Parts: sequence; structure tokens; C-alpha cells
Amino acid sequence: MIRLYPRLNYHFKTINLLTCWWNYSHSTVRFKKKLEDYFQRDRVCLTSSASTGIYKVLRALKPGVKVGVQPLTCPSVLKAIVEAGATIEFLDINEQLQLSIDAVVEKKEHLDVLILTHLFGIPLDVAGFRAIVGTETLIIEDCAHAFMTKWENQPVGKQGDFSCFSFGRAKFPSSLGGGAVIVNNPAYKGRIEADKPMLFSKELLVWSSAILLKIIHLPLFYAVLGVRLKNHKSKKSDYTTGISRVSISYLMSIWHLKDAMLNRQLFNWNCVANAIETANSLTVCSRTSTTNGFLVAALAENRERIITEFRNEGIEIGKHFVATFDKLPFYGYVPGECPVYERINQQLLTFPSHYQYPASSIRKIISVLSHL
Ligand SMILES: Cc1ncc(COP(=O)(O)O)c(C=O)c1O
Repeated sequence: MIRLYPRLNYHFKTINLLTCWWNYSHSTVRFKKKLEDYFQRDRVCLTSSASTGIYKVLRALKPGVKVGVQPLTCPSVLKAIVEAGATIEFLDINEQLQLSIDAVVEKKEHLDVLILTHLFGIPLDVAGFRAIVGTETLIIEDCAHAFMTKWENQPVGKQGDFSCFSFGRAKFPSSLGGGAVIVNNPAYKGRIEADKPMLFSKELLVWSSAILLKIIHLPLFYAVLGVRLKNHKSKKSDYTTGISRVSISYLMSIWHLKDAMLNRQLFNWNCVANAIETANSLTVCSRTSTTNGFLVAALAENRERIITEFRNEGIEIGKHFVATFDKLPFYGYVPGECPVYERINQQLLTFPSHYQYPASSIRKIISVLSHL
């Protein structure tokens, strides 16, 4: 029987999907309070996604700002920057997939805003970048992958002028959609535009599509439908509709489990990263004990062969942000501008480690890696 265990976490819990209508109407205010307590900040704005958060932050600034960002990111980030009327300055990365300090030093004079991406949950040294760009350049921390990642014993997202989180499908924790902006710079308090509430019919759509995605991501269906799903084109972005309340309600129902989910994810992350380190022809991009363990990123010269070997064993591992590379020329990227990124883009592989990933599949990953 053909089965393929998906890499990303679309395993919404049925019981929570069913009960998430229970506290539906009060959940948004309560969730905002939970985030304010967690980050010890009184300026939290809920948004429909992390990219909407980035869009809204940029809209709160003067028009036409120049934004430095790494090309190894989600295409929705680049789209949000352009749709907000800002322009993009691409900055290269290093072997750890983090923004290159040299690139920032070289281009800092041209930047109004710097986006620091805590990619795959690995934290960046925000204070170090602040020391380079000074206070004139605003810093947005892209924390879409990094909820509960720590830096110096504090959750990431508290040092930039703004930080944008995602509670979308397959993020950590995986919910039905949503995001938040933490406004750390008091000068921007109250300047993030408010959203229109989501229509009930759309809430129903969000909920039912989560059920559908859960079914499609069952290993048996995924083996057949997975590839088709990957080719599905995303819809036009809507930056005006607010957060889905049913998604927030779902998130609230798993909120008390977040430490347990983090520990499970970190355990998986360490198991997979250790196995990669002993495997031939693969290197882990970055290791730190304060990651949230969102995904394990590795570099491989012969990644197609490795992907196929895993696939034959019923495990999906993947390339990441391939769609971004194809769209870069549209955003003004000139080939050769970020050479390290271009090389890494050919070698990057991501391995699953999320909190709902079964132990049997983790064992299989370790076994396949030991035979590479
Ligand atoms: C690094 C990064 N930033 C931002 C986003 C956007 O998050 P959202 O889907 O909540 O807009 C993504 C989405 O995958 C991402 O990977």
C-alpha cells in the first residue's frame, strides 16, 4: 500500500475542531490577553496572518520605504512588502540561513526597514543587527516560524520595533489561520490599522477547509493527492479582513499544551538533527538549544536522490521556498545579487520535527539517514 507521511503539520485534532465553536465569540479578546501576558507587552494586534502583519506595519510607515529582506523567505512576505507600497532590497544570507551581517553592513545606508527572519525557529541576534543599523532603521522581526523560540531566556519577538507571528496552518502551533503583531516601539502604538471582522460564512469556510486539509494529509490520501496539492496556486491576498475567530478558538483550546508541544517538538528536532549529523552527504544548517524546533534544515549536494529515498520509505522531506525563487525576478531580484542564497537554494532540505509527528516516522527518518 502506498503511504506518504506529510512533512508539515496539518493534523488538526478532531476534538478541538469540534469544540472550537464553543468559545468562539469570546476567544479573540482572551487570546490577545494571553499573548500580552506571554510577551509582557500591552501592544498586541491580531492579524489574519504574519504577512498581513508585515503589510500593516509597513502601511503605518511613510510611503515608499526601502525594506531589506533575505530572499530565502515565504513569497507572501515579498508580496506584502510590495503591496504595502514599499520597495525591496535583497540581502544575502550565510550558511546558517541567517541574514548575512556583511550584507547588512554593506547596504545599511539604503535601508529604512530591516526584516530579520528567525527562519525555521532558529533565533537571530536582533541586538547585534540593531548595533549595525542604529535606531533610524526600523526592525521587523519575522517570527512566523519562531513562536516560543528563545533568545537570552526571553521569547523572540521582543527586541525589534515590531514582530510578526503566524498561527497559520502548519505553523507552530498549527491553527486554522491567524497572526499577531507585537508593537515594541511605543512611538507606533495605535498606528496599526484595524481589520474588518470576518464574515460568518468565511469562518465556516476556514473551518471546513481545515477538515478537508486534515483528511488530504492522511498518509494514504497524501501519497495520491500530495503532489497535486503542492501545485495548487494560492488565492489573492486579503489584507483587510481580520483574524478568523474559529481559528483563535481552536488555538485557545490547545494553548495550555504549548509547553508540552514545544518539548515534544524539541525532542523530535534533536533526534532528527543528531541523525543528520552522522549521515553521509548532509549537514545541519544551524544548531541551538533555544530553537522551538519548528523544522530541521539541512544542506545536501544530491538532494533529489535523498528526497526519492525518503519518499520510497513513505516519508516526505522537502525543498523549501522553491516558489520564492521563481518569483524573485518579479520583485526586482537580479541574478547574482545574493550568491550564497542561490547556492543554498539548490541544496536546502527540510525535515519534519513537529509536535504531532509520530515516533514511528521519526524512527524511520533515523533509519533512512543511517543508510544514506
Ligand atoms: C518565514 C516566513 N515568514 C512569513 C510567513 C507568512 O506567514 P503567514 O502564512 O501567516 O502569512 C511565512 C509563511 O510560510 C514564512 O515561512
